Amino acid sequence: MIELKTQEELEIMREAGRITAMTLDMVEENIEAGLTTGQLDMLVEDFIRSHGAIPAFKNYQGYPASACISIDSEVVHGIPGKRVIKEGQIVSVDIGAIVNNYYGDSARTFAIGEVSEDKQRLMEVTQEALSAAIDKARKGNRLGQVSSTVQRIAEEAGFGVVRQLVGHGIGRKMHEEPQVPNFGSPNDGPVLQVGMVLAIEPMINLGTYDVKTMPDGWTIVTADGAPSAHFEHTVAITDNGPRILTTA
Ligand code: MF3
Ligand code: CO
Repeated sequence: MIELKTQEELEIMREAGRITAMTLDMVEENIEAGLTTGQLDMLVEDFIRSHGAIPAFKNYQGYPASACISIDSEVVHGIPGKRVIKEGQIVSVDIGAIVNNYYGDSARTFAIGEVSEDKQRLMEVTQEALSAAIDKARKGNRLGQVSSTVQRIAEEAGFGVVRQLVGHGIGRKMHEEPQVPNFGSPNDGPVLQVGMVLAIEPMINLGTYDVKTMPDGWTIVTADGAPSAHFEHTVAITDNGPRILTTA
């Protein structure tokens, strides 16, 4: 069952999304070569708590941190620690915040200093795929129109679309129905209705789409070792079209 949110619920989710986005803005201002991923995670946790919200990922199914920080060939769910961020890397930072029991979830990939043209283009295409997919998040469309839009844009650019991980409905739980794949046919999936809220999150690889899990049980990496980018927004289907909840 896909839970439809009321206007009141959407306003709470908007606040969770606003704090999530402000946190990512803070990350954008602070992320630089020389910082460890653990230091960045502490900044994230402090920021979320000081704004009266709860870091959504911390202790989620045993996850040990407030942010997922995934570098280069790491796709998602990288665990912050002693690793030092370096010039030339692309770093995905994924953050969730809980306000009054409702979740916000968003991710961006940042370039550290000068990065290769390949990485730059990968980030741009992934962001473009997310924007174009969000534009399909309209009542009466099928979810497959969202999914197939990501796939089309990524594959036209020659990139691989991760299949083993998907976006999701979101609300009083971080992961609700429906699953939101980044691939498939426009005719797939449920018809979108006003009140649905989706976390749309393309994970796009410079190489092939295959991924594997590292021995830490969390970190997902590309099977071929090529870089990967990830952008995510929490988006509500409204009478007036898609409403991105994770903006500052
Ligand atoms: N944005 C990720 C997701 O939608 C966040 C979950 S990571 C976890 O699945 F660490 F919290 F599990
Ligand atoms: Co998510």
